[in-house]
Amino acid sequence: MLRTHNNGELRRENIGQVVELVGWVAKKRNLGSLVFIDLRDRYGITQIVCREEQEEICRNIHNEYILHVKGVVALRESINPQLPTGDIEILVDEISIINTANTTPLIIADKTDALEDTRLKYRYLDLRRPVMQQKLIKRHKIIKAFRDYLDARDFVEVETPILTSTTPEGARDYLVPSRLNPGRFYALPQSPQLFKQLLMIAGFEKYYQVARCFRDEDGRSDRQPDFTQLDLEVSFIDEKEIMELVEKMMLEMFKKVENYQFKEKIKTYSYQEAMNRFGSDKPDTRISYELVDVKEIFANSSLEFLKNKEIKALNAHNLNDRITRKEIDSLGEIAKKNGARQLVFFRYQGQTLSGSLVKNMSEEEQTKLVKTLALKDNDLVFLVVADYWEQACNALGQVRLTLGKRYESERLKGYDLLWVVDFPLFERNDDGSLAAAHHPFTRPYDEDLSLLDTEPLKVRSHHYDLVLNGYELGSGSLRIYNQEIQEKIFKIIGLSEKEIRERFGYFVDAFQYGTPPHAGIGLGVDRIAMILTGSESIRDVIAFPKNASAICPLTNAPTPASKEQLEELKIEVKKE
Ligand code: AMO
Repeated sequence: MLRTHNNGELRRENIGQVVELVGWVAKKRNLGSLVFIDLRDRYGITQIVCREEQEEICRNIHNEYILHVKGVVALRESINPQLPTGDIEILVDEISIINTANTTPLIIADKTDALEDTRLKYRYLDLRRPVMQQKLIKRHKIIKAFRDYLDARDFVEVETPILTSTTPEGARDYLVPSRLNPGRFYALPQSPQLFKQLLMIAGFEKYYQVARCFRDEDGRSDRQPDFTQLDLEVSFIDEKEIMELVEKMMLEMFKKVENYQFKEKIKTYSYQEAMNRFGSDKPDTRISYELVDVKEIFANSSLEFLKNKEIKALNAHNLNDRITRKEIDSLGEIAKKNGARQLVFFRYQGQTLSGSLVKNMSEEEQTKLVKTLALKDNDLVFLVVADYWEQACNALGQVRLTLGKRYESERLKGYDLLWVVDFPLFERNDDGSLAAAHHPFTRPYDEDLSLLDTEPLKVRSHHYDLVLNGYELGSGSLRIYNQEIQEKIFKIIGLSEKEIRERFGYFVDAFQYGTPPHAGIGLGVDRIAMILTGSESIRDVIAFPKNASAICPLTNAPTPASKEQLEELKIEVKKE
């Protein structure tokens, strides 16, 4: 036993006790004949005071040295209200250095100005910062709350393979060459999707896993090449029941981890409504601006660029005199990057509409626009013109988000948890072909089955997304359990018999042996932890993440393979 207490523990009631502490030196200050040291461990900081007798050893103590001290708890002369242990200090009788440390390349404190790559290269020091430890501890609590909830409801945690074959989430696979089978590759799972469905066929009924998933995608602040899902699947359950199960799990987790209770019932939006009103299938409904369809108003417009186009507008209430021309221009760029042909704006002041388009609008069109958007003095209107409905929604949705973050930051506090349902089963690829909007195992609405051959884009699916503060936290669906429908969906997304056999043959075969109706969801644990810890990036809640270029600055992975390794694998690397 090196210590009797940790560094976050001692209070006034301990005064007079002889204690032993260990920890890292967070700070050392000399004050005349006294030396004050802040001793830090995972639990906090305790001030220790060394006297003249310890002067020599103190001279050799520097930041991040590890010390062992023995002394008496005493009342501090000047109380530090910032620190839980701020009422007391330890008057040291014995002190020894357990280990020394070099000067650290970054300051071990909550606030740091170190570059991210430096933080990642010396992650073990970055993680020594109390703020980072708190983030990972909260992540642990989130996972524990999920596990406790599912455990109490009879779920079985089953691990599924990491070295496997391709999965259907639609990102690029990470491939691992097989030495024993030259020329053949394992794929790392993008999710345990196929295995969890096989576990339902195997009769487990309730499965979950805290599962590592791997996707070779371009970096984003809410993405990592390897990330963690809370993955679950249940047999004999309908859409309402599984959504309730997941929702309750989230509410219980919020209560346990954050002591947070949602005041209102969690809302459910259809995909159509979410896109039409908020311009996103993962809307942040804390932002007040909403999109309005104004195509009708311009139905007889003389303006060529509005002909046969989708037109959506947004009233940026009261922003006319607050927003600069430069900002408006940058919003135009954002809209274009997200598929708009054009972003037009109008000002409304003194009951008059102004803007470049106004001279080409009839009196009636102007009146209708003012009325439809319920314009008031000092309002600013953004209008997006696009070829397709999704583009118009997405482009203006991004403008809405940018405006919301900039001008409604005071509303962006607290949590906005919601469901989006009734997604279309298919979406269009750039080349016009169809792809599964979620994945090809998602069950279509029975009443839309007849549209599969005629108007597949109109087929709705039992696909539900859980959204928190504008982030997609999780995605799930009722699964197809009818072999014919499954094969039909594969064909519609352009998979030939041969491809189906090669990629999912084992899966299709399994369907012939009594497949129960089943449903599931995968929740992004990193994203949940990012939002609950108020972090800017999911890298902050992952112990050893990759940077934006998918490189780990700590280990340098990915590294080149040696000549011998490549020879063994029968792989030749082409020179760039
Ligand atoms: P999906 O592909 O939508 O569904 O993923 C589910 C959730 O996983 C998280 N996520 C990510 N988090 C960090 N980095 C990434 N690169 C990343 N990609 C996804 C998101 C997302 O909502 N098998 C299905 C689920 C199911 O149908 O049961 C699936 O993986 O939070």
